[in-house]
Amino acid sequence: MFEWLESFEWLEWLESEIMPSATLQLTPDQIAFFHREGYLSISAITTADEVVQLCGLYDRLFETRAGRDVGDHLDLTSHDDDSEAQAPSLPQILNPAKYAPELANTHLRANASAIARQLFGPSTAFRFDHAIRKPARTGAATPWHQDEAYADPALDYHEVSIWIPLQEATVENGCMWFVPRSHTLDVVPHHPIGNDPRIVGLEVDNPDAVATGSVACPLPPGGATLHHCRTLHYTGPNISAGPRRAYILAFGAPPTRRESLRRFIWLEQQHTNWHERSLAAKKRPRDAPT
Ligand code: NI
Repeated sequence: MFEWLESFEWLEWLESEIMPSATLQLTPDQIAFFHREGYLSISAITTADEVVQLCGLYDRLFETRAGRDVGDHLDLTSHDDDSEAQAPSLPQILNPAKYAPELANTHLRANASAIARQLFGPSTAFRFDHAIRKPARTGAATPWHQDEAYADPALDYHEVSIWIPLQEATVENGCMWFVPRSHTLDVVPHHPIGNDPRIVGLEVDNPDAVATGSVACPLPPGGATLHHCRTLHYTGPNISAGPRRAYILAFGAPPTRRESLRRFIWLEQQHTNWHERSLAAKKRPRDAPT
């Protein structure tokens, strides 16, 4: 017992030495705004120095297509087939901290974790991270959707996504847009982009009706938007001369089983190359060549 205590204390000390501590707190007004409107915009979640450092690391992950073999790299808007000649228009990396562990020891992560706990309580934990890079001039729009439309319909989710641009985010390069108070809806009907079941990206069925009353949230580099997993959101195409880099962290309580059944027909119809790669990686013995 005594030994266990000693090692636990040592680990706590080590963590406090390595992990930056949080330097940010939401005000009561910001917390109330998030719960009422389903989103929030904040001007800084990390330092300018850290943004520069993360930018280089982020671009390297996309240049090397980190996690491609195991289904952690995909294009949201195409058939995402390696034989297709065109460059991806909306490349995404799932779990980037798996390929760049430095991402877990950042001011950004410490602050994101602290504010997520302010929103959902002390049992709130890190759920996953991902990154979406819109290439200069050719980056596609991310259509109107709710994040929960991608998830298991048998479960209810209690999550917040914290979206951080690593350069300025503008209407021209694809900043976030939200429909205020849409987090009070259940998941609305979606379909794969272009009604093509080979495409991973989803879109709501009536985007023009849904977008009524939406608000754009331009941000400086290292700012952040927060949104609930049911909040309707969108980013426009990147028509600017530079890439739009967004790093996204999801926090929340574990999902809970729903009492009422629902079906996400759009997921049942999908058959994507990304899914094939993920399944193949799960079946592959760990030491097999890839
Ligand atoms: Ni989303």
